[in-house]
Amino acid sequence: MAGTELEYVKQAFESNYIAPVGPQLNQFEQLFKEITGFEHCVAVVNGTSAIHLTLRALGVGPGDTVLGSTLTFVGSVAAVKYQNADLVFLDSDLETWNMDPNLLEQEIKSLASQGKKPAAVIPTELYGQPCDLDRIVEICKPFEIPVVCDSAESLGASYKGRSVGRSARAATFSFNGNKILTTSGGGMIASDDLELVKQCQYFATQARQPVLHYDHHEVGYNYRMSNILAAIGIGQLEVLSERVDRRRAISTLYGELLQPIDEIKMMPEAHYGQSNKWLTVITIDQHSSVRPTDVISALQEENIESRPVWNPLHTHKAFADCRCVGGEVAESLFESGVCLPSGSSMTDDDVHRVAQVINTVFRK
Ligand SMILES: Cc1ncc(COP(=O)(O)O)c(C=O)c1O
Repeated sequence: MAGTELEYVKQAFESNYIAPVGPQLNQFEQLFKEITGFEHCVAVVNGTSAIHLTLRALGVGPGDTVLGSTLTFVGSVAAVKYQNADLVFLDSDLETWNMDPNLLEQEIKSLASQGKKPAAVIPTELYGQPCDLDRIVEICKPFEIPVVCDSAESLGASYKGRSVGRSARAATFSFNGNKILTTSGGGMIASDDLELVKQCQYFATQARQPVLHYDHHEVGYNYRMSNILAAIGIGQLEVLSERVDRRRAISTLYGELLQPIDEIKMMPEAHYGQSNKWLTVITIDQHSSVRPTDVISALQEENIESRPVWNPLHTHKAFADCRCVGGEVAESLFESGVCLPSGSSMTDDDVHRVAQVINTVFRK
């Protein structure tokens, strides 16, 4: 926490809006728009519901196909399944680790030649790395395919000098406990398309008709963010740029300290943007005798938590029915990658301690 959140929560209590509506919720959305530059946004219970609402508002349903990244967390694509649509995974490129635009183009053209087109594309911005959105949008535009940018991990990162997600039809964000900013749990849908955001808000509030008596023409969801959690979000948004600076500094320091180990490479940063370095991720050369699990275990012995890279979703049983275009890049990143401790509150000494343990593993 930044320190001011409790004051905003107190204000929320004083307003007596202990509900998914109220002045702090409005203020949080207003501040979010000011910081990111999006014209409209709606705060919801989490990042997964943000994607779900967007797909629902775009009319994605049974018989539709949605293209998503395979190298990501399940929350990126779970909503495709909620909507009973078909999911096709796309591999990453090695330069950014995000959805490979060349494969996207190839897949869209291949579907077009069969008279089909995807109902949406959801590129994930992995570990805070912005995706090449202009390129993705340019590929999708002639086919009128909406791009929903999963920016759950990349709040505060920039693409060509603007906030991530800006040229997508909508971008979605997460304020889960592990994210660069948190409201304990929360999410946001942001877009310049007022009608789309209105539809998302309508579905997030049980699809209630705007009449005094309760009337529903279709079934929605109870997905709106609580006013109390939005109060936490106001305090958090105020320190976003500080958080990004700290995460980037942590990543740079890791880079310096691990540089002497030839077998280690840092996750590359795309030339067109600036990652928020939500997580600092390394890969270990496949010829090294040290494997990611050795590093993770050695850190664990020192009570330091680290994680493997996301396990590509096309390899999970839950997605056994989903096709994957490529997949080798994502699989190799999973087999070689380790996500290092990257919390904004880490001190330089903490980073030195982690790097020292890693150094010891490679010197054995
Ligand atoms: C890439 C990605 N997409 C979606 C989500 C889902 O967000 P939430 O946990 O807020 O539902 C997360 C994280 O949790 C994520 O990392």
